[in-house]
Amino acid sequence: MASLLLLLLSLSLVSFTLPTGDTHITKRKSFEIIIGGGGNPPPSPSPEPEPEPEDCSPPPPPPPCPPPPQLPPPQRQRAPPKPPPKSRGQPPLPLLGFESPLLKKVFPVLKAFQKLVTRDPMHILKTWEGTDICNKYKYLGLECAIFPNTTDKALASIQFNGFNFGGDKLVLHNFLDKLDTVTIFHANSNDFLGSVPEVTNLKYLFELDLSNNKLTGDFPASVLKAKNLTFLDLRFNTFSGCVPPQVFNLDLDVLFINNNNLVQTLPSNLGSITALYLTFANNRFTGPIPASIGNIKFLQEVLFLNNSLTGCLPYQIGKLNQATVFDVGFNQLTGLIPYSFGCLAKMEQLNLARNKFYGTIPEIVCELSSLKNLSLSYNYFTQAGPKCRELIKRNILDVRMNCILDLPNQKTASECSTFFMQRQTCPDPKSMYLIPCGKNPNGVKLDQERLEAKEAQASSPVSYGVLNPDGVRNR
Ligand SMILES: *[C@@H]1O[C@H](CO)[C@@H](O)[C@H](O)[C@H]1NC(C)=O
Ligand SMILES: *[C@@H]1O[C@H](CO)[C@@H](O)[C@H](O)[C@H]1NC(C)=O
Ligand SMILES: *[C@@H]1O[C@H](CO)[C@@H](O)[C@H](O)[C@H]1NC(C)=O
Ligand SMILES: *[C@@H]1O[C@H](CO)[C@@H](O)[C@H](O)[C@H]1NC(C)=O
Repeated sequence: MASLLLLLLSLSLVSFTLPTGDTHITKRKSFEIIIGGGGNPPPSPSPEPEPEPEDCSPPPPPPPCPPPPQLPPPQRQRAPPKPPPKSRGQPPLPLLGFESPLLKKVFPVLKAFQKLVTRDPMHILKTWEGTDICNKYKYLGLECAIFPNTTDKALASIQFNGFNFGGDKLVLHNFLDKLDTVTIFHANSNDFLGSVPEVTNLKYLFELDLSNNKLTGDFPASVLKAKNLTFLDLRFNTFSGCVPPQVFNLDLDVLFINNNNLVQTLPSNLGSITALYLTFANNRFTGPIPASIGNIKFLQEVLFLNNSLTGCLPYQIGKLNQATVFDVGFNQLTGLIPYSFGCLAKMEQLNLARNKFYGTIPEIVCELSSLKNLSLSYNYFTQAGPKCRELIKRNILDVRMNCILDLPNQKTASECSTFFMQRQTCPDPKSMYLIPCGKNPNGVKLDQERLEAKEAQASSPVSYGVLNPDGVRNR
């Protein structure tokens, strides 16, 4: 309860520090984000799929993504909190045993929800009796906190992760949309059905986790109006169609939309997002990775794994100097590895496997001091220099099934020559040799290197954890 009060406090802090630029990011970075922790097994990387058959016909064009209906332009500036609803002058209504009017108001919403749940294997709802909503031993899954600028308690958070609630009519409509005092709604691994209601009334909502449910329909565009949202987790549902490009104008720390049915060319404003963690994996995103990705200053991990991306990697990726995980495995990407990748000083897991990359593996990439896993298998690379061969020996670099003919486990000469007769070139080939961090990016001092090695040991990737449906963020 105390922590929630703190959350509410920090929320107003965020709204006040926002306009000052970068400071709020660092503040928000301090939110501990641990996914797949607790009793969950360590995240398993995607199983090795069968080698794809060569198919040179271009993929069918994705359906155009219509602009979302009447949305106001993104508002980065946040209004200071409004004064609380006051009933000054009016006689207070009888509370009938409720601790506060806000709790009395939300009570019928909770009771209506309770009726929809017909499967409750953990017997959570047995505790939902009486009017004492904030009692620690009652109403499990709910938490209260003092509502801003009042002395009244309000329903502040929903913590349904892993409850496995089910029911034929278990929908979010008339529940989520009616919880106008909540800051957190976490419902990983339940069986909510149907679409997501409009969340425009949820002024205080800053974490929405609907992952691993049975939600369908379009991407819930109303989240665009929840300007206080910093955490949006919609992975492992069957949302279809397009992600409105305006989502990337939100001030999110985390956007997890992997394992849905999203079909779309990646929008060019992708880099407008301020996120630390982004997962697009296991959808059907198409087209090239937009150059704007280089603008996501604080991006730490990004998973494009298993989509239908095409084109070449923009050299701007090399500007992501905070990134530790970059995964574009199992797509249709081509071209060279940009030399700018030599600037990814913190990179640990770099996966480019199962694409159509070719050329020489830049030595500058094999010199990256934090690398733990460089996966380039099932491509068409033709050369690996001494630094890269050293990494192969240390089992850090995987180059199986390429066209490096003096190494073992490579493609056949005829498979390679067939590819090179029809390989695609990149629109801006010169950019592939740009090195945005200067000529000697790896000339770090010894003790700095040691420090980085220490950091590398301490961290483990967050985003691979979300490829496991039950992986949740611990608080
Ligand atoms: C964000 O939250 C604050 C409370 O901290 C609230 O006053 C404000 O209206 C919210 N902003 C929006 C756009 O809903
Ligand atoms: C509400 O609280 C904020 C600080 O959190 C303060 O700036 C604002 O003046 C308060 N509003 C009212 C009406 O008390
Ligand atoms: C790749 O994504 C598709 C959905 O687009 C999914 O059906 C398939 O299982 C995924 N493959 C792997 C290896 O995860
Ligand atoms: C390295 O990364 C690849 C691709 O993500 C993965 O398949 C492989 O298991 C990883 N190897 C190690 C040793 O972690």
